[in-house]
Amino acid sequence: MAQYQSFPGAAGDSRTFDKLKALRLPSLDGRSFLDVGCNEGFFCGFAHFQGATRAVGIDHSELFIGRARQRFAGCEFHRQGWETLPQGPFDVILLASALHYAEDQPALIRSLVERLSADGTLVLELGIVSSLKAEWTRVQRGIDERLFPSMPMLREVLADYAWKWMGPSIAQAGDPVARHVIHISRRRPVAYLLMQPPAFGKSSIASSLFVPAGVPVVSGDQQIGLVARGKATAAEYLESLIREDYSPFSIDQTIQRIFDAGLAGDLVKLWLGGEDGSACKGDVALDVYVPAQYHAVVERRLEELGYLPVQLRWERVGPGPLPQAVMNERAEAFYLSLGEAPPGSGADLDVRAERRPAGFVDELSVRDGELVIRGWAVDASGALPGRLAVRIGQRTVHLDKLDKQLRPDVQRHLDLPHALVGYRATLDEPGIRTVADLGEGFKVFVPGGVTFQLAGPVADIFSAAKQ
Ligand SMILES: C[S@@+](CC[C@H](N)C(=O)[O-])C[C@H]1O[C@@H](n2cnc3c(N)ncnc32)[C@H](O)[C@@H]1O
Repeated sequence: MAQYQSFPGAAGDSRTFDKLKALRLPSLDGRSFLDVGCNEGFFCGFAHFQGATRAVGIDHSELFIGRARQRFAGCEFHRQGWETLPQGPFDVILLASALHYAEDQPALIRSLVERLSADGTLVLELGIVSSLKAEWTRVQRGIDERLFPSMPMLREVLADYAWKWMGPSIAQAGDPVARHVIHISRRRPVAYLLMQPPAFGKSSIASSLFVPAGVPVVSGDQQIGLVARGKATAAEYLESLIREDYSPFSIDQTIQRIFDAGLAGDLVKLWLGGEDGSACKGDVALDVYVPAQYHAVVERRLEELGYLPVQLRWERVGPGPLPQAVMNERAEAFYLSLGEAPPGSGADLDVRAERRPAGFVDELSVRDGELVIRGWAVDASGALPGRLAVRIGQRTVHLDKLDKQLRPDVQRHLDLPHALVGYRATLDEPGIRTVADLGEGFKVFVPGGVTFQLAGPVADIFSAAKQ
């Protein structure tokens, strides 16, 4: 039988070395490789040379398989037809210059894709006839007559796969049709991700883009609402976390807590439905707010479930709404500045509940003759006292101009109905250069009331000055 593949010292009909370059094979290092119709094993030899874990060649010609075994002892060669394929899966499968020999060409492609590992590649090198019609053309060759597809026909055959035309292959003497290289892999379902914050227009984009295209849209807010109302189930921890603090107006906070608690995987499964997230089949659009620092986590989880995550990102036009917690705080501060406890805050009740007046100096600093004092204080009604004073040496100075500040930390700590208990005072003290110059008798206090404690770092300054 004539020599087909070319080796040093054994020239065949095929320009094998140039074909190897045209195939644009994926990296084979650490991967498994199968060559179907391998002839004398040139490409298996290359795979082995590149560090493939397994390089297997099959060919129905006893002569070629015999020669292949002699040439490449590190590879595995089997004399068999492609009707039965070796046990896989394989990361890369090659079918070069051979598809036209198959009785049923689409069926051979299907069976090869089935032998691929999950993200494996089938490298197809084949003749494609030039035609705008989706058709198979019988082509007379020197040795026989075979069917070759047109590009529109190939598009139909490969409709269920992800594939890419890699470019022309080599031209060989006597070729009746031009050869091309195509890479084919299984098509993962696409998960289109709309994860921008609330009020970015996710739902509008999803309904204008995906609904008309027949891609199902999952609304994360809706699903969390269903779980909160007991109309849908989720993983145990996720379910209890959702029911604990659900409000339709602050779902973003619930979602943040879900991710902070490490429940990203359970949430992704809830979106996709079914116990293990397998209810969704095919492409899906996820209209789901996800805090930015968890975007990559969500993409990884989707990949693990077999999806190709595709993220849609855009900037919001115009200022967005403030987070609810920030808005609450600002409204409260404003109301307090009007001299009233915010309605419904329970502050009026707390006025009656006697508190122990207390105060703290958290920060003292002197710069260019200006003394800055910052801290917090509460009187018996839980409010910032109206008058504060400082003692510096023999002098008492009333702090007439106080900046009131929000101190949510103190509010939490003392269980106060509001956070407006912080103060910041500035005094002109040209004679003072450093905090230590304020002297031992320095104190901040409520006239006729409590003396404030000095926070650790402030107290340390005075005790260091004493030593
Ligand atoms: C034109 S050669 C291509 C060889 C090699 N793939 C290359 O590109 O250098 C076609 C090869 O396919 C083999 N072949 C044809 N029909 C086959 C079948 N049904 N099963 C396995 N091998 C087959 C032939 O023996 C031959 O070695």
